[in-house]
Order: sequence, then structure tokens, then C-alpha cells
Amino acid sequence: RVPTVGIDIGGTKVMAGVVDADGQILEQVRAETPEKSKSPKVVEDTIAELVLDLSDRHDVHAVGIGAAGWVDADRSRVLFAPHLAWRDEPLKDALTARLAVPVMVDNDANTAAWGEWRFGAGRGEDHLVMITLGTGIGGAILENGQVKRGKYGVAGEFGHMQVVPGGHRCPCGNRGCWEQYSSGNALVREARELAVADSPVAYGLVERVGGQTSEITGPLITELARGGDAMCTELLQDIGHWLGVGIANLAAALDPGGFVIGGGVSAADELLIDPAREAFKRHLTGRGYRPEATIAKAQLGPEAGMVGAADLARLVARRFRRAN
Ligand code: BGC
Ligand code: NA
Ligand code: ZN
Repeated sequence: RVPTVGIDIGGTKVMAGVVDADGQILEQVRAETPEKSKSPKVVEDTIAELVLDLSDRHDVHAVGIGAAGWVDADRSRVLFAPHLAWRDEPLKDALTARLAVPVMVDNDANTAAWGEWRFGAGRGEDHLVMITLGTGIGGAILENGQVKRGKYGVAGEFGHMQVVPGGHRCPCGNRGCWEQYSSGNALVREARELAVADSPVAYGLVERVGGQTSEITGPLITELARGGDAMCTELLQDIGHWLGVGIANLAAALDPGGFVIGGGVSAADELLIDPAREAFKRHLTGRGYRPEATIAKAQLGPEAGMVGAADLARLVARRFRRAN
């Protein structure tokens, strides 16, 4: 029952934590995600440095990685990542060689779903769908405690379903993807556009960043919305609206018992979730004549992916010990 290390590699930051067998975080460190233009090796360096730092104070027996990318069916290679430099990257082998402990690699939303199912809002839910709102939208399907991976490992890439024909460009190569309308990036893009348009409704926000629109961030928008700023509240409502529309589509396809919403943007709580619930009810097919899935906020918050990765690493390490 020794602690393991979980790492969540997102589009903007890398979180690493030592997590015990009950899902409690004993220590947490973080770094900025290296820019997409840098080689994949630089991301590996960042991971290795964080693990090395934590091993100064903890016995590290296994490392679990939740990566913001498309992990293959063997959970070994990252096939593609819209927000990172990986293309057919042998991440598991590279890290196993460097860290000299068992390494588990999975998609970040898959590890978040696992974390919430084990320790959070998904406990006891045998048909769970996880949505994470961060740089992009991550998705996972968990049935009876099993992540559904599809044939090639990349099931649950909900963020790249088209919701607006001819809409905003997405780094995946398409236009109009869901994550272009309901994510941290979408929130910040909309706020900056209003600021650049010199809209008086954005003056509160612009003033706050001293006119530097590049300083506008998701957490800042959430903070101002909490304080009653009408424009920031509206922006979160728009993100929440699109979230609800997408969730209604997912209910039509997958019919889960519950959706859990995580990722950085979920820190906005009811400012995001209430409009999402409303749009969900309004867009659900056959509404009024079918049971409705619940929509809950991730209990582990933005740490769900990290905690889930650490827990999955524990399972992998156990299997590894039995086999050797
Ligand atoms: C990627 C997913 C990832 C999600 C959240 C999406 O753009 O395609 O693999 O889970 O972002 O990080
Ligand atoms: Na996924
Ligand atoms: Zn896309």
C-alpha cells in the first residue's frame, strides 16, 4: 500500500503528485508544459525532473501518466496530441528506461474518470462518462469500472466532435470541434476577442489586466464572475451552454447514468454547471420521456487525472511484481 506518483500532462501545465492508496495527495509539484514546437524529449525531461524532485522525499515505486493525447490500445504509444508535440511517440518505453520503475501511460481524461470512479463523484456509478474542460475537452467512458478504449485505444475523443459546421479551426485539423466552444481555451479566446473589440462590457476585465489582453486567463475570468462581473458570468454561461448541448448528444449515443465534469474550468462550479444542466435538459432527445443522467462536478477537481494516474500505476506495479 505504498504511495505512487501520478502525473497529468495537459496543454498548459504538468502536475505531479505522490498519492496514497486511498487517493490522498501527500505532496504535489508542477511545471509549465513545454511549448508544442519543442521536441517530445523536452516533455520527457520535465516529467523526469518532477519525479526526481519527488523521489528526494518519497519512495517512488511506480509512476502513472495521464497524457493529453491519443494513447494506443497497448497503452504504450501516444499516437497524436492536438496540444502537444507527440506524434507516434513511444512514451511508455522512453519513460520506463529513464525512471527505472514500472510506468503506466493512459489518456488524461481516462485517468480522471478512473480517479473520480475510485475516490470521487463517480463512486458507485456503473455507467459513467467523464468530461474534462481544460486546454481542450477530454472524454472517457467507464462501464462497470472499465475504461472503454475502442479498437485502437482512442475512444472518447468527444472534444473533436463537430458541433458547428465551418466553425473555429482546431489544432486537430478540423473546424467546429466541441472543444473550440466549451473549454478553457474557448473561454479565454472569447474574452480576449471582446477586449480587443474594445467593448465597454469588457472594461472590468481589461482594467484588471492593465490593458494587457494576453494576461487574461480562465481562472481570472472565473474570479471576476464570482465577484459579479456580468460579462465574465456571460462567458461562463456560453461555455456551460455548449457543454450541455454536447452532453445531450453524448446521452443520445451512450446513455450513461451520470456525467462528471472536471478539468480547470470546472472550478467555476455552478456558474458553469447550472447553464450546462439547463442546455442539457433543453437539448436531450425525447426529453420528458426518458430517464435523465445526472451531471456532477468532479470531486477531486483538476487533480482527478493525477490521482487516477497514480492509482492505475499501483495496479500496474502490482501486476509487474506478480509477474517477476
Ligand atoms: C485531446 C484529448 C485530451 C483532451 C484534454 C483533447 O484535445 O484530443 O486527447 O484528453 O484534449 O486534455
Ligand atoms: Na479519453
Ligand atoms: Zn478538433
